Amino acid sequence: MKNAVVGVLVLLILGVAGWVASNGGAYNGGEHGKVIADMGDRSNAATMKVEEKDDRQKENDKLNALRDKAGNAGAFKVSQAYKSKCSSCHGVNGSGFQNGKPMMGPKLFGQTSEEIYKKLIDFKSGRKENVVMKGLLIPLSEEDLKTFADEIGEFPARAKAAAEAK
Ligand code: HEC
Repeated sequence: MKNAVVGVLVLLILGVAGWVASNGGAYNGGEHGKVIADMGDRSNAATMKVEEKDDRQKENDKLNALRDKAGNAGAFKVSQAYKSKCSSCHGVNGSGFQNGKPMMGPKLFGQTSEEIYKKLIDFKSGRKENVVMKGLLIPLSEEDLKTFADEIGEFPARAKAAAEAK
């Protein structure tokens, strides 16, 4: 029981740390970003990170424009499990966006169940490194992962059905 509490706390801290790392001023190309860029060679790694973010931001802007055009794929039903365990980082519809802003987790919408399942297994086994996802998947069984993967793989069909029902 104690272990479970510690586990949850660790997850929480990792989550916040990750969020800060991806949303903090230094990575948003704001004033802090410029300061880091100005430091030039001494902090090449940090500078690269800023540029990477700029590219990602551009990609995201493009995606946003597309999404606006398509008329937000928006609302369809997802499971309580997805809502409580995944949507905080990947979005309620797996878009990876919230109010037009990129979230911490990447877009899942549009990937097949097989693709998602493979990625989840890779995180869980440590073949793909990500502390956030790995920590999150520790308490989940492979069957749980399959269930999540199957659900996420269905998102496009669900979005289509929801749009047609309007
Ligand atoms: C605390 C935030 C957070 C939560 C909660 C979270 N994820 Fe993630 N997820 C991430 C981050 C960050 C990445 C990117 C990791 C990387 O690529 O290194 C990611 C990556 C993924 C990927 C790989 C996507 C790709 O295309 O590479 C899948 C699949 C995924 N998450 C599924 C889930 C599922 C299913 C849940 C719920 C059980 C979930 N995630 C909950 C943060 C989160």
